[in-house]
Amino acid sequence: MRAYLPKPVSDDVLSEVMVAARLAPSGANLQPGVFVCVRGTVRQKLCQDLILAWREGRQEVEDYDYFPKPMPMTLRRRQVAAAQALYGALGVARDDRTGRDAQFERNFLFFDAPVALVVAMPYDFGAGGYMDLGMTLYGLMLAAQAKGLSTCAIGAMASYPSVIRHHVGLDADTKVVCGMALGYADPDAPVNQTRTTRSALDDYFKVLG
Ligand SMILES: Cc1cc2nc3c(=O)[nH]c(=O)nc-3n(C[C@H](O)[C@H](O)[C@H](O)COP(=O)(O)O)c2cc1C
Repeated sequence: MRAYLPKPVSDDVLSEVMVAARLAPSGANLQPGVFVCVRGTVRQKLCQDLILAWREGRQEVEDYDYFPKPMPMTLRRRQVAAAQALYGALGVARDDRTGRDAQFERNFLFFDAPVALVVAMPYDFGAGGYMDLGMTLYGLMLAAQAKGLSTCAIGAMASYPSVIRHHVGLDADTKVVCGMALGYADPDAPVNQTRTTRSALDDYFKVLG
């Protein structure tokens, strides 16, 4: 969900979601990753600087690779379909760069969700650590959903690790993984009418023998 009601999320509810998320399993129970909830002036200044970096077209080396480079055509098609679902719900045409940029910029505001989380990874974990943290992220999303809340993971945040490290007070060795918006979804917002599909079961589940 990428638009939220102004209704606040209580600290108790947020703590319950975080406690449930931390029940996720991890290799050797290392429980990698930290979640930092940014509020008040910290959030305001962070978002201001992220938007500035984005508007200036600043390029930073990201802390980890997300997508395959180059992107194979099968995956590119899925990426395009997801973008079409999003911009289609908003009524933003394919060639409307301004409309697309305006939506993209909202990533750096945590979509104005009442709760803004920065997800980071202290220590030099390999892919396994990211897999473990992904489980915690999904645990968080499901726990939130169970309480009537909605979420959106924000990989776009990983574009500006140094800006985030600076504002969130993370040390140089801590990797910036993503952001997370959390709150009560606005059911009437056009952006929340985005509907995606999934590939056929045969594409990712095989039975042999
Ligand atoms: C780790 C992760 C990072 C994501 N980053 C972004 C993002 O930066 N901006 C955004 O609008 N959506 C982001 N998404 C949402 C995906 O685009 C979305 O989950 C996908 O298109 C499937 O749609 P659905 O979750 O509505 O089914 C992210 C999702 C995940 C799991």
